Amino acid sequence: MIDPCTVVVFGATGSLTKLKLMPALFKLDVAGKLPDELRIIAFARREFDQESWRREVATMLEKHLSSDANKQVFERFRNRLHYSRGDLSDPKAYQSVKELLDQNNEFPPNGIFYMSIRPADFGVVIENLGKTGLISESHGWRRVVIEKPFGYDLLSAQILQKGIHQHLNEQQIYRIDHYLGKATVQNVLVFRFANLLLEPLWNRNYIDHVQITHSERAGLDARGGYYEGSGALRDMIQSHLLQLLTFVAMEPPVSMDAESLRDEKVKVLKSIRPIPQNAVHAHAFRAQYTRGAVGKEQVRGYVEEEGVDRNSTTETYAALKLYIDNWRWRGVPFYIRTGKRMAENRSAICIRFKHPPHQLFRSTQIEHVKPNWLLLGIQPQECLKLEIQVKEPGLEMKTQPMSLDASYRTDTEEKRDAYEDLLLDVMEGDHSLFLRYDEVEWAWRVVDPILKVWSMEREFINTYAAGSWGPRGTYRLFEREDQFWRHSLSLQGADVGSEVY
Ligand code: BG6
Repeated sequence: MIDPCTVVVFGATGSLTKLKLMPALFKLDVAGKLPDELRIIAFARREFDQESWRREVATMLEKHLSSDANKQVFERFRNRLHYSRGDLSDPKAYQSVKELLDQNNEFPPNGIFYMSIRPADFGVVIENLGKTGLISESHGWRRVVIEKPFGYDLLSAQILQKGIHQHLNEQQIYRIDHYLGKATVQNVLVFRFANLLLEPLWNRNYIDHVQITHSERAGLDARGGYYEGSGALRDMIQSHLLQLLTFVAMEPPVSMDAESLRDEKVKVLKSIRPIPQNAVHAHAFRAQYTRGAVGKEQVRGYVEEEGVDRNSTTETYAALKLYIDNWRWRGVPFYIRTGKRMAENRSAICIRFKHPPHQLFRSTQIEHVKPNWLLLGIQPQECLKLEIQVKEPGLEMKTQPMSLDASYRTDTEEKRDAYEDLLLDVMEGDHSLFLRYDEVEWAWRVVDPILKVWSMEREFINTYAAGSWGPRGTYRLFEREDQFWRHSLSLQGADVGSEVY
């Protein structure tokens, strides 16, 4: 049961609101999940009156409004919308929002404040919310949703946390990482902890290494200004990909409640072996895309993108080798990589098992039994596959790999966006899929030494052609010659990888 509440979106005219928040809220309304009393206040600087704002939202939702049923829901949804014009730094603007929440019966006093703004503005907004009394819970609950990145490095995250804690307690804060809202990411936990089968194998005795990949064909999409100051390591690895790693590596939590789950994730992050600055090159690789062809489209290089410095050494590709120094994982490399303008859109976790200890088939035509792989596709292909070896039909003793495919989603099913789940969780007060501050801090500790070294090396960066699988040099991260990036989730991809560019 969700309490009636008012959602206040700061930065309501930005792209996150348009692409994610409004569609998610609307789809929750279509699914009948929103309480009748729920209202949405858009807070931004641009001039809109109530009518023109509602029209603006209708254009944001255009692709969802083709059916008559959804058009009807929109009639209800538009009445939830309200526009409040103001500057983020102007305390008076917050006063008008306070009057709506505290005095106007049309707006439920429980409030969600969504920071759909530049990270640099988080501090000022929270300070103003605090000073105006908007986050005091005397009239109802008040919750603040903070988008990533939380800080720019370890120190700035600590400063930001100190600043916001003057006004908010941890229970009021929802640090969002939209990867945790993806159904397949949650499925990693179900797969591990609802099935006994693999648990005995889920450790250093049987697993050779783990790979976590996120590759995108897209480039910057007018986000040059933001990306220049961020780069792939901050943008994807410090947040989303380290979260995926915690799901793969964590111990079973005492229960699935938010604190137990987050305690286990923090333990993993704390156990990641620190990378000393003089070992950064052995553990991390960065590169930047140059011109190339993504599919059939010719695209420009990173330094030719809008908002990017011509001499920029910001990385659009980053790969890491991490070790988790605990009982379960000691000695097992976790390889993580991400890149923009790559050959395919793909997020996946690929786990390679060790070779069988004894080559029983040595005297037959089977020279070397191939290891098993477990593949968890997150997007666009949501799948779960286990590759095993079987005997080829015929007289000879030969093997062939086979894939046990437990993919459960059909193409026709409508996919829910992560933001729908996460917004619902905020309304219900469930923190499980949000980051606690110590998680964020420990994740910064993992990447901080790399960021420091890279920020000093401004003269040179490796490159890769747009549309490829990334730079070649990245193979130096692998421990052994028989380890290689697994690009494909289909059987044909099992042997290639290293040479596919
Ligand atoms: C965002 C990053 O957090 O995640 C983007 O800032 C990236 O650069 C995006 O493209 C990827 O998310 P998804 O859900 O499209 O995989």
